[in-house]
Amino acid sequence: MRGKISQNLDFFLLEIKIVTMNIINLKTLKNRVQKEIKSAKDSDELENISKRYLGKKGELTRVLSSIGKLPKTKRARVGKGANELKNFLEQKIEEKRKKFQALSSKFQEEYFDITVPGKKPALGHLHPLTLIREKAEEIFQSIGFSVIEGPEVETEWYNFDALNIPKDHPARDMWATFWLKESANPKYKTRASKLLLRTHTSPVQIRYMEKNQPPIRIIVPGRVFRYEATDASHEINFYQLEGLMVDDKGKINAANFKAIIEEFLKRFIGKETKIRLRPSFFPFTEPSFEVDSLCLNCLGKGCSVCSQNGWLEIMGAGMVHPNVLKNAGLNPKWLAGFAFGMGLDRVAMMKYKIDDIRLFYSGDLRFLQQF
Ligand code: FA5
Repeated sequence: MRGKISQNLDFFLLEIKIVTMNIINLKTLKNRVQKEIKSAKDSDELENISKRYLGKKGELTRVLSSIGKLPKTKRARVGKGANELKNFLEQKIEEKRKKFQALSSKFQEEYFDITVPGKKPALGHLHPLTLIREKAEEIFQSIGFSVIEGPEVETEWYNFDALNIPKDHPARDMWATFWLKESANPKYKTRASKLLLRTHTSPVQIRYMEKNQPPIRIIVPGRVFRYEATDASHEINFYQLEGLMVDDKGKINAANFKAIIEEFLKRFIGKETKIRLRPSFFPFTEPSFEVDSLCLNCLGKGCSVCSQNGWLEIMGAGMVHPNVLKNAGLNPKWLAGFAFGMGLDRVAMMKYKIDDIRLFYSGDLRFLQQF
C-alpha cells in the first residue's frame, strides 16, 4: 500500500518536473549525468547510470515520453533539447563503455594469477662422477694433498718411457692405447715423441716431479682412455685419481700408503668398506700392489660387477721405482715415495652400489637424476 502511494508521489513529482521542464533544467541534467559517467569506476556502474537515465523507466526516457503533456509553446523546444541530450548521453555512455572494454581485454591479456603455484624450472646438477671427484679432492686436501691437472693428450715419453715402460716392454700391452695420427703438416712432423690419449694419470707424476722439489703430496684426478672391450666394470673412457707422495728416504713406506688409503675409503665410502692389498706388477713401482675393495654390490657373494670374485680392483699402487725418480730428475739415493692410481668410476660404483659402469656415460636422465 505504502509502495503504491510513494509510486504515485513519484509520478506526481515527475509530472510537475516535466511541466516545468525547460532548457535550463536539461542543462543541469546534462551536467549531472556527464559527471556521473565520468566518475563511473566500472562497467556495472556505467550500465546502472545508463539504466537510470535512458532505460525504459529512466529519468530522461520518462521526460521524453511525457513531452506531449507540455504546453504547446514549450513542447518543440524541450522536445528537441531532450532528444539532443539523449543522443549526447548515449554517445558518452558508448564511449566510456568502449574504454572499459579495451581496459578489460588489456587486463585479460596481461592478467596472471599470482596465487597459482609457479612452474619449477628444470635445474641441472653435477654429474655423479664430478660429485665423486669433488668429494675425493676434499678428503685428500684435508690431509695435505694438492690437486694437480695434466694433459689428456700425452706424449709416448710421459705416458710410457719416462715411467720405465720402454717400447718393447710387455707391460705396454696392459694399456691398449688410442694413438693419434701424425699431422700431415710438416711443421709438426719433427715431434720426437708420438702422441696418444693418456691411458692413465701416472704421466703427471713425471711432469710434476720435473718442476717441483720434494716433499711432494699431490693427487691428479682426470680422464683416461683405453682401447678395450667394455663390460659392467670396464669403459674405454673412465676417470682415475693418481696419488703421489715423495719425501726423504726412510720417512715414507708402504704402511703410510695403506694408512692413507684406508682413511680415504673410510671417509669416502663408509665404515662398511673392506680392502685387501695384493702383490702386483707395474714397471714404475717396486714393490707394486693392487688394492681391491669388497664388492659392495653383492657384499662379497659374487656378481657381474666383481666378475663373480666378491672383490673389485679399485687401484694399482706401489713404491715409486728409482728409475722413475731418475727420469724426473730426482735422486733415488735420498728420496723415496709411493704412488697410486685409483679408478674413480669403480669407487663411485662401490659408494652408490651401481651395478654397471656404462650407466655413467649413458646420458640416461632416469639414472642421473638420482644424484
Ligand atoms: C694403472 O693405470 C696405473 N697407472 C696405476 C698405478 C699408479 C699403479 C701409480 C702404481 C702407481 P691399472 O691399469 O690397474 O693401473 O688401472 C688403475 C685402476 O683404474 C684400476 O684398478 C681400475 O680401478 C681402474 N680401471 C682400469 N681399467 C679400467 C676400465 N677399462 N674401466 C674402468 N676402470 C678401469
